[in-house]
Amino acid sequence: MATTVTLIEGDGIGPEITTSVKRIFEAAGVPVQWEEENAGQTTLESVGELIPATLVESIKKNKVALKGPLTTPVGKGFKSVNVQLRQLFDLYQNVRPCVTTEGISSRFKDVNMVIFRENTEGLYAGLEIFDERLQIADSISRVTWEGSYRIVKAAFDYAQRRGCKKVTLVHKANILKNAGRLMLKAGETVAKDYPGITYENVIVDNMCMQLVLKPQQFDVVVTTNLFGDILSDLCAGLVGGLGVVAGANIGDEVAIFEAVHGTAPDIAGQGKANPTALLRSAIMMLYHLDMVDHAKRISHAIDETLKIKEQCTGDLGGSASTQQFTDYVIQKLQN
Ligand code: NAI
Repeated sequence: MATTVTLIEGDGIGPEITTSVKRIFEAAGVPVQWEEENAGQTTLESVGELIPATLVESIKKNKVALKGPLTTPVGKGFKSVNVQLRQLFDLYQNVRPCVTTEGISSRFKDVNMVIFRENTEGLYAGLEIFDERLQIADSISRVTWEGSYRIVKAAFDYAQRRGCKKVTLVHKANILKNAGRLMLKAGETVAKDYPGITYENVIVDNMCMQLVLKPQQFDVVVTTNLFGDILSDLCAGLVGGLGVVAGANIGDEVAIFEAVHGTAPDIAGQGKANPTALLRSAIMMLYHLDMVDHAKRISHAIDETLKIKEQCTGDLGGSASTQQFTDYVIQKLQN
């Protein structure tokens, strides 16, 4: 019997890359049935809601969703729908693997790490005050013991499950003394229960330098919301760019899978988008749904496609359109 999954097409390149996932899943015979909903500016215009009640019901019922990127107005307008969805379903883990792939040219050959970004609090808690008269903006970062503990625990659990050797906690406790203290205390407390895993902590500025010099030294990285957001784009740049890096937002009840990248308005509607990042997010979803054989088969077909430059999209130096890339992956599935 097919598993029903909520699909949010999203904005910008969203329709192109979600079409790619749908075609590849169908060709691979994945027993997933899509329940299509949308959010953001599109539904604000059509039904007057940024997050329609039907979408909330669908996610509550299905517990799993695949999401294309959604536009957030910069410096004005509504609060990020991405952030709202994460908070609404308490999706406290943002898991972003960064791994080098054969065939994709990148600065390093052997990067293999995963970032655990706290996904519900920090500077994304939505606590902003603006004093119009004095022109003062206060953006409050809320970090809690519970929030710190559970994200660090999730990172160590993952490290143990996957046989990873080291967890690196990234912070700025020299300046943000209270928030930093909570994260460091969570790191020290949780690490005691995992004696086989090396624990270290690194200040975020040093972390940036270490990542661009020697990213191979990192395994599992855990950090607060803003640092995780920035570091994961940096890490995407180490392994081939935003077109290839997947992500998952995971809570205790619900999981929403989405690429690290945004709506890419500069290339939207032109058939130039690389669907690999969303496809890899969909593969993470298949592992989550215990559809391991399908996950491995599609993953292999993507890796085989990426080995030949002409089959890749422009961001990877190739000349294929989104649709042609999808066709190549489908061909590889049939080999
Ligand atoms: P972006 O990730 O959309 O684009 C940055 C650069 O990477 C652009 O040059 C773009 O063409 C390229 N790129 C991104 N994805 C690509 C793909 N799949 N294939 C080929 N090239 C790709 O970031 P930007 O421009 O800062 O944000 C645009 C919009 O997306 C904003 O409204 C932002 O708020 C939103 N956004 C949404 C996210 C989400 O829905 N989770 C995450 C990040 C940004």
